[in-house]
Amino acid sequence: MTSQYAYIRGTFVPLEDATINIRTHAFLYGTAVFEGIKAYWLPEENRMAAFRLKEHYQRLIQSCRIIGLQHPLDVDAMIDITKELLHRNHCNSATYLRPIIYKSDLRIGPILKVPHTHDDFCLFSVPMDGYLDTSNGIKVGVSSWRRLDDNAIPARAKVNGAYVNTALAKTDGYASGFDDVVVLTNEGHVAEGSAMNLFLVRDGKLITSSITDNILEGITRSSVIELAAKELGLESVSRTIDRTELYIADEAFFVGTATELAPITSFDHRPVGDGAIGEITKKLRDLYSKAVHGLLPDYHHWLTKV
Ligand SMILES: Cc1ncc(COP(=O)(O)O)c(C=O)c1O
Repeated sequence: MTSQYAYIRGTFVPLEDATINIRTHAFLYGTAVFEGIKAYWLPEENRMAAFRLKEHYQRLIQSCRIIGLQHPLDVDAMIDITKELLHRNHCNSATYLRPIIYKSDLRIGPILKVPHTHDDFCLFSVPMDGYLDTSNGIKVGVSSWRRLDDNAIPARAKVNGAYVNTALAKTDGYASGFDDVVVLTNEGHVAEGSAMNLFLVRDGKLITSSITDNILEGITRSSVIELAAKELGLESVSRTIDRTELYIADEAFFVGTATELAPITSFDHRPVGDGAIGEITKKLRDLYSKAVHGLLPDYHHWLTKV
């Protein structure tokens, strides 16, 4: 592999030099926000394109606003740095990008806003083809860990420290033999997957958790809602979902940047529908894959080409 670069403290550096001091506030307290972005090779144009880059950086700034971090760069500047990184790293296949805005002061004390302190933007890339093997669908369990509440660590912000909650749920799910998990809100309603949003199909209708049920407002979720409406004429209902609706759904799938669209074939050992990947799920998976690879001209505005 050619030498790899990352961006930190206002400049591109070799990846091995992109390090932080152990006294860094974000390392001590998890006080950072991040995004997971994917870029794909466009087979018809022989170049890379990042998927919905602007929306990811807008959400990163929203996360900063929620937890009170200063964002050192605006959306356009972060887009330019991302394009430059993909170029410098000679990326020519599916690539995962991880931008982070973190409290970079070397300071003890978990207060977020202190005068004369500074928050930094950093970014690295890694090749990523598949996050989960989803070819035959995945087996999902309901986690005994509850999703963090909006009044604890808001799920609407992608806060680094909050992913301990994700890790607990996912680790115990694996240990129980599941491929991934659904987490419930404190009230017992369905929030989302470990790091993905959920869709159910019931009676030909798409249902997804309400944005007020402690979910991340996913960019793949909104892309799938749009593709389903425009390409398949299917409306999506966003509402509170009960746990037992999982057990009677005709089809189900997770969506997320890394996960893409992952068909779910069972919840808590109960088959979803007839236990095979559903027809609507297959169609949406195909449409999403075409959109990210630049094969649907109507959605080229979702791509930032490099
Ligand atoms: C907790 C959580 N929910 C949902 C998602 C899916 O969001 P997106 O489609 O914007 O990647 C992610 C991944 O970023 C996540 O971490």
